Amino acid sequence: MDLKKHWDRAYEGKDIQKLSWFEPLPEKSLELIAKCNLAKDDKIIDVGSGTSTLMDALLDAGYKNITAVDISAAALQSSQQRLGPAAKNIEWLVDDLTHPRHLTKIKNVALWHDRAVLHFLLQEKDRQTYRKTLLDIVKPGGHVIIAAFAIGGATKCSGLDLYNYDRESLVDFLGAGFKLLHSFNHTYTMPSGDERPYIYTHFVKHKNQQA
Ligand SMILES: C[S@@+](CC[C@H](N)C(=O)[O-])C[C@H]1O[C@@H](n2cnc3c(N)ncnc32)[C@H](O)[C@@H]1O
Repeated sequence: MDLKKHWDRAYEGKDIQKLSWFEPLPEKSLELIAKCNLAKDDKIIDVGSGTSTLMDALLDAGYKNITAVDISAAALQSSQQRLGPAAKNIEWLVDDLTHPRHLTKIKNVALWHDRAVLHFLLQEKDRQTYRKTLLDIVKPGGHVIIAAFAIGGATKCSGLDLYNYDRESLVDFLGAGFKLLHSFNHTYTMPSGDERPYIYTHFVKHKNQQA
């Protein structure tokens, strides 16, 4: 399957508020981001950003060094249109987390944020590419927030199969270079009213951990 086309089609001409992953305000992500005590010019990357309103919230909070990454150019264009002139304050990168070409050039990331993206990577080599990119570009002492569909929850999203996680499997996935600071289960209610259980995790990269 051509995933870029799949995701472009998921966004093209769509009312973003009806997407089955839409959040008017990404409250759980923002709660964890507040705990990171970031400086306003710290580098923040939102991978698989889609049309997430996290961008609006981060700009409103005064963050100045934000990058939105997605495989779908259509998704990022939609976000840019929504944000209007404020969009110029964000770096927009069309890139594939399983074959990164641009993301790998970024350095000193203070926060890597992922809501609902890692769980689409089913093959071990793709999961390891994701992990290596994260390991390479998050700085020592940097933060990682990953929210994924929980074990026991839905096994498909956007017509695609998923790899479900719990706290332990995310701890195993990131490995010894990261310390888990917080984790919780959260039930997200879709615009349709259906519920989707998520696991949220917040890690810090050990200070002496190089790429
Ligand atoms: C369920 S949506 C979540 C979007 C956003 N994080 C949010 O919370 O609203 C998954 C997003 O991951 C993106 N995506 C899927 N596979 C990807 C990949 N291999 N590389 C980069 N982005 C990817 C999709 O285009 C889509 O925008």
